[in-house]
Amino acid sequence: MAAKAAVQSVEPAADLRGDLEVPGDKSISHRAVILGALSVTPTRVENFLNGEDCLSTVNAFRQMGIRIEQDKNNLEIHGKGLEGLRAPAQPINCGNSGTTARLLMGVLTGQPFEVELRGDASLSKRPMSRVIEPLTRMGATFPTDATTLPLKIRGCHSVRTLAWKSPVASAQVKSAILLAGLYASGETSVEEPSLSRDHTERMLRASGVDITRKDLRVIVRGTATVNARDFKVPGDLSSAAFFLAAGVLLSGAGIKLRRVGVNATRTGFLDVLKAMGADLKQDAVTESGGEPVADIYVKKSALKATQISGELIPRTIDEIPILAVLATQAQGKTGIRDAAELRVKESDRLAALRAELTKMGARITEQKDGLEIEGPTPLRGAVVTSYGDHRLAMSLAVAALVAQGRTTIEDVACIETSFPNFWMLMDQVRGR
Ligand code: S3P
Repeated sequence: MAAKAAVQSVEPAADLRGDLEVPGDKSISHRAVILGALSVTPTRVENFLNGEDCLSTVNAFRQMGIRIEQDKNNLEIHGKGLEGLRAPAQPINCGNSGTTARLLMGVLTGQPFEVELRGDASLSKRPMSRVIEPLTRMGATFPTDATTLPLKIRGCHSVRTLAWKSPVASAQVKSAILLAGLYASGETSVEEPSLSRDHTERMLRASGVDITRKDLRVIVRGTATVNARDFKVPGDLSSAAFFLAAGVLLSGAGIKLRRVGVNATRTGFLDVLKAMGADLKQDAVTESGGEPVADIYVKKSALKATQISGELIPRTIDEIPILAVLATQAQGKTGIRDAAELRVKESDRLAALRAELTKMGARITEQKDGLEIEGPTPLRGAVVTSYGDHRLAMSLAVAALVAQGRTTIEDVACIETSFPNFWMLMDQVRGR
């Protein structure tokens, strides 16, 4: 079946073996475009994630007058500096991408014009008050009072500094405030309850911006110029996670993934895999564009249940769906707690995981802020849906590899948002 089909049938796999590179990191790709556009010099981005979400960010800056040339996974961004954006003629469509919407709102706080942001049905349900509130204090106005997309934001000439204590550990909230803080004269800080991904901080620092961290507080000093560097984006650990999970569940020669980003604010998935007893090895860490990268190997392993909560949640935030699949095959009761944020992702991931994995025979109970999953349970093929959520769709595809009989996954076109060659790579490594 064609990769873009809305429905995909997946047969169980006999085994798994392979050596592959997953596409570039989604979070880093967005930020490379944003910083490139705000930079005073042209920036080259290699291994950019050519998926729908990051293309929403590219299109947003093109609409604001930035020339961005694309040759497959390479971009040449002709930034015009912090003050170089112009008002777009049309509303900006953020598609399915929360990162585009929220980080853009940070940048737009410093622009002397008004923009309407739109999104697809899923993005239009996601909460924006978490950025609207701090950005309003910094000087942005939101003429329609909407707290979800579509909404209008009007920036200002003199952005105010802010010391913000965020109630959620969210890199999108943190990044929106830091980006707005570039336009303020003085120090803006964000404190979060536990550490979320720190790509914005690293990339701003590499671009010559004065940015420091004190425990869970990041402080940025407003600036006149951003000098983004050329950048080679590491492979996305959140995409690699599906292949690592498949490699742990299926017999065969194992899986090797090359050049995966292993930033410690993102590697909760690897820590949980190890705690579950996975046979996982990692080569020495090297660096790419200020981010640590490594090759990672896994083999089929007997898994045991574990607990995932607290500071591990922001470090595994996008990997909870695939961890839930792994938990169905682990000995014992896996508990996922403190994960209420999953209810406001591309779908309500707690409800969706319970509903869909239950159809495949999993034993799952849903709590307000988590899941309890009993294993090991033999899974059986079923007709399941992704709710238009790319990470749900790919997690269900991995569950299907170890199920008895065929699984039909509805609504899989969403995989294009983050992992356009997912099915091709899956075909490459699976035995029949
Ligand atoms: C992202 C941050 C996370 C993550 C999302 C990407 C980012 O969202 O789930 O996929 O690039 O900053 P939150 O900040 O809402 O937790």
